[in-house]
Amino acid sequence: MDLSDRPRAHLGVWPTPLQDVDGLWMKREDLSGFGFGGNKVRKLEFLLGAAVARGQRRVVTFGALQSNHVRATAAACARLGLHLDAIAVQAVPRTDADYTGSGNAFLTELFGATRHVVADDDAAGALALELMAEHGDDLAVILPGGSDRIGVLGHVDTALELYSQLEFDPHEIVVAASTCGTMAGLVIGLAAAEVDTVVRGVCVYHSLEQTEAQLRDLLAQASDELGVPVPDDDRWVLDDSQLGDGYGIPSPAGLAEIHRLATTRGIALDPVYTAKAYAALPGDPELRRRTVFLHTGGGPSLFAYRSALG
Ligand SMILES: Cc1ncc(COP(=O)(O)O)c(C=O)c1O
Repeated sequence: MDLSDRPRAHLGVWPTPLQDVDGLWMKREDLSGFGFGGNKVRKLEFLLGAAVARGQRRVVTFGALQSNHVRATAAACARLGLHLDAIAVQAVPRTDADYTGSGNAFLTELFGATRHVVADDDAAGALALELMAEHGDDLAVILPGGSDRIGVLGHVDTALELYSQLEFDPHEIVVAASTCGTMAGLVIGLAAAEVDTVVRGVCVYHSLEQTEAQLRDLLAQASDELGVPVPDDDRWVLDDSQLGDGYGIPSPAGLAEIHRLATTRGIALDPVYTAKAYAALPGDPELRRRTVFLHTGGGPSLFAYRSALG
């Protein structure tokens, strides 16, 4: 599958490393090399590449107050000379200064975005409509998490890159699943490479049913975009075992993994996404050896969760 004719803004440093971490293969998308890294950089290369090709000069996007996606979009817009309106939704029941003002919230403003804090999705939608009416075709709308038929292409690229780095076909790739663009791209890319590897999406945002509906929709849209068949259902599995008390609320198992990996390997997981996905990895060493963990980043939100980690 060739993505080279797609408009692409060059932001990250590729390939990201594939490392052996205690007998587990870890693909380090946290080290994607731009704007504090993470899985949003590849999506933004395609999303903002398309916006620049359309001649757009303004962007609006959405996310929680500690959204990694919004922070990475702010950095990318700064690099590309685009103005970002970042709509920050109070999706997590936290009003303390660590959550509202540090980590990604702080970085989004540092990168020069105009940040609008709103109470809920309805208010976010209303504000986006106002901006669309005001700026018309000059405004690129980037959906939450950068997950649409174009954003998914970023992680088709991850799958193809990973496949070129591996010397064996893994049993599973484990990844946090929120808006599902990352997972959908991996599934499509691995199907295109004809690798019999299952992608395990660990739900961290919505229920299993809602996550599945979102994933199916993205698989259909991105397959259509690429002109390939929709991958078979046996290429992916969703796992809601780590959702705990819900989005943005750390789980005891995840916090334990953050401490363990930080103190034994110097690797930072984040409490919202990667720690929960990491906690879903198989314990059996044989199975672990045949598993790839996609480290999708999220480190900046650690500052917003320092009281849970102290
Ligand atoms: C650190 C991190 N990991 C994983 C994800 C999940 O990616 P996706 O929204 O594509 O499912 C996100 C997205 O918000 C994220 O910020």
